[in-house]
Amino acid sequence: MAHISSTTAIPETRNVPRHLAIIMDGNGRWAKRRLLPRVAGHRRGVESVREITRACIKRGIEYLTLFAFSSENWRRPADEVSVLRQLFLAALEQEVEKIHANGIRLKVIGDLTPFGERIMDLIANGEALTANNRRLTLTIAANYGGRWDLIQAIGKMVRDNPGQLGQFTEEQLSPHLAMNYAPEPDLFIRTGGEQRISNFLLWQLAYTELYFTPTLWPDFDAAALDSAIVWYHERERRFGRTSEQLAEAERIPEALQDGAHKLP
Ligand code: IPE
Ligand code: IPE
Ligand code: MG
Repeated sequence: MAHISSTTAIPETRNVPRHLAIIMDGNGRWAKRRLLPRVAGHRRGVESVREITRACIKRGIEYLTLFAFSSENWRRPADEVSVLRQLFLAALEQEVEKIHANGIRLKVIGDLTPFGERIMDLIANGEALTANNRRLTLTIAANYGGRWDLIQAIGKMVRDNPGQLGQFTEEQLSPHLAMNYAPEPDLFIRTGGEQRISNFLLWQLAYTELYFTPTLWPDFDAAALDSAIVWYHERERRFGRTSEQLAEAERIPEALQDGAHKLP
């Protein structure tokens, strides 16, 4: 894959994240505080998805990845799972045209089989329709789990390299990960106050800056996104190096930096 792995090379960094990944948490609590059923929070959460998608385009973010349903969320009450499925279906039916009109490429990652044929067809059609759009790549993680992703990628890697026993490389694995088309996330946001990854992108978050906010997802708006971007901007992304090396690198013209890691 053309994208640089943060552990095999030092990626280029920018003031605005190129890839933003979000765990959209806190819908249930948002609803509970208003004495509404949990699903009212999920409905309101769809509004935040629209607002944040628009805001990402305006800010020049190229990849937005949203955790919509985890492989563990099947453990929820059947009626809540059913409403989440309906919301996903409705969004696919109603939003794909708008997504396309806005120059957005749609991608869905996760084990989609349990959602059924109707949803799988809509996803396949939506992805095909928007495949050449490049203004923003919007990835929805649905029935996604980081461990599922690693296991399925390892299976494909082993099948791809028959006869090879052990000693696989990152380069052999990463093309089989579900998000092989995107660079690793620069910024991760989790709303809702919890400070955990909940089996989201385990491989890709290796060097991602992690931002946790108590703001509940339905309340997360463009201004809240800007606060996260400001925080991101203040981080020093060292990728294993020292602060002094980074200061030095800023003074040396880029052309000379390529071999820097080979110096004693
Ligand atoms: C996130 O909000 C949405 C999904 C997991 C689908 P939650 O439903 O987890 O909201 P809280 O954490 O219960 O408030
Ligand atoms: C993570 O939220 C998954 C999504 C937002 C889709 P959860 O609310 O399911 O996470 P846990 O269970 O609190 O870790
Ligand atoms: Mg939650």
